[in-house]
Amino acid sequence: MNSIDKLFLENKAWASERRKDDPSYFKRLSTIQTPEFLWIGCSDSRVPANEITGTDPGEIFVHRNIANLVVHTDLNLLSVLAYAVNHLKVKHVIVCGHYGCGGVKAALTQHNYGVINKWLRSIKDVKRLHLTEIEHLPTEMEQLNRLVELNVEEQVINLAKTSIIQSAWKNAYAPTLHGWVYNLEDGLLHKIHEIKPHQLADHLYCYDNL
Ligand code: CO
Repeated sequence: MNSIDKLFLENKAWASERRKDDPSYFKRLSTIQTPEFLWIGCSDSRVPANEITGTDPGEIFVHRNIANLVVHTDLNLLSVLAYAVNHLKVKHVIVCGHYGCGGVKAALTQHNYGVINKWLRSIKDVKRLHLTEIEHLPTEMEQLNRLVELNVEEQVINLAKTSIIQSAWKNAYAPTLHGWVYNLEDGLLHKIHEIKPHQLADHLYCYDNL
């Protein structure tokens, strides 16, 4: 059996298993979507949002890209964010990176990855912002993993800078912003950063006059 046929076979088995547990499962899910979380994660195949959080379809709205970046000109991300915040009214927006991230690792080098260099450009700026701290770390692995954490923190701040989040906070739809890092080696999540709506005053430097 080829690998594509196997996917369809597994899909059939999964769907029938779900129906066996709960005959109305698909009927219910097909009519309503009320996730409490928006997940902005890395595209890395080892960091699937639902599996690592033990959540079911319908519970997390998901956007993934290389190195879990929040880029203000990324229409894809902004559309997902706007829909999640304004229509689904998610309570939490999570940026989740992971230790050993290939995208962050690539940004630490001067290699030419073609168009990917442009996507990773902002991570080099995260490094520049925290250069002293990173360069003081003794090993490449420690430097990489600290940059993974700092990158997540910066992306949470980037979320706070979007007019979507700023308007939501102003209008009392108030999602909390979270920055997490996932450890591939033990499967555990770690909290890195958090911005709650009542901390708005601490982040006024991020704000536009909406
Ligand atoms: Co990654």
